[in-house]
Amino acid sequence: MEDIGDVVDLGCFVGGSTARLAAGLAAGKRRAHLHAYDRFGCDEALKARLLYPAGIAPFEGTDTLPLVRKLLAPWQDRITLHPGQIQDTGWSGGPIELLFMDASKKVPLMDRMAQQFFPALIPGKSLVIQQDYLHWRTPWVPVQMEAMADWFTPVAFAPKDTVVFLNTRQIDEAALEAGQVARMTPNARLSALRRARKAGDSLGYGKRLAQSVQAMKANPDCEVAFKMQSPA
Ligand SMILES: C[S@@+](CC[C@H](N)C(=O)[O-])C[C@H]1O[C@@H](n2cnc3c(N)ncnc32)[C@H](O)[C@@H]1O
Repeated sequence: MEDIGDVVDLGCFVGGSTARLAAGLAAGKRRAHLHAYDRFGCDEALKARLLYPAGIAPFEGTDTLPLVRKLLAPWQDRITLHPGQIQDTGWSGGPIELLFMDASKKVPLMDRMAQQFFPALIPGKSLVIQQDYLHWRTPWVPVQMEAMADWFTPVAFAPKDTVVFLNTRQIDEAALEAGQVARMTPNARLSALRRARKAGDSLGYGKRLAQSVQAMKANPDCEVAFKMQSPA
């Protein structure tokens, strides 16, 4: 990080990833501003499954914004929250130096986020952290990054499912066109996934994509993570 652009967190839930990013920026004495996007909503089932066991005090309603503001208070001066649907909010800022992606649970949204945020990346500098790259329920993430291999190269793997990419060329119309997974046939998606598997061998995660290949074969038309059926 050289403080030459902002940091964007796409899909921050109640701010866990945002807090980690903010703490890292503070520890590294970086001034970059952080933008966190989410719907900031949570139903009772999710509260019971994720929030209350983590020590969050029970609260009424679905709005998590008050909770998120409280949790992120230590870094409030460097964070802007963007409530709403990411695809409606988009990006109107300057260069993005670090883009963290954890909302690619549906193909159309993933494609839209690429169109909205990738053009702001700085070639040779910006990193894209793909939180769900190796998760079998979101095989379209490696498909998209492989389809855009002329513009991105993998540079790091962080267990369990995360792969980090360096943006190597200015994102232009050709890049955005190449990265539209919704327009790719099931066969083209599978081919890209197999190429991604090979490319991942150098960073030691290639074999992990075998499960994503199986998942895509078992669910060739599925574009929604929670509807994916396990291939096992
Ligand atoms: C797996 S959670 C993120 C977890 C978070 N990054 C963390 O580390 O704690 C995915 C988040 O993406 C958000 N999300 C998914 N689709 C969205 C959309 N279209 N607009 C806004 N937020 C969305 C969900 O509300 C959810 O909070």
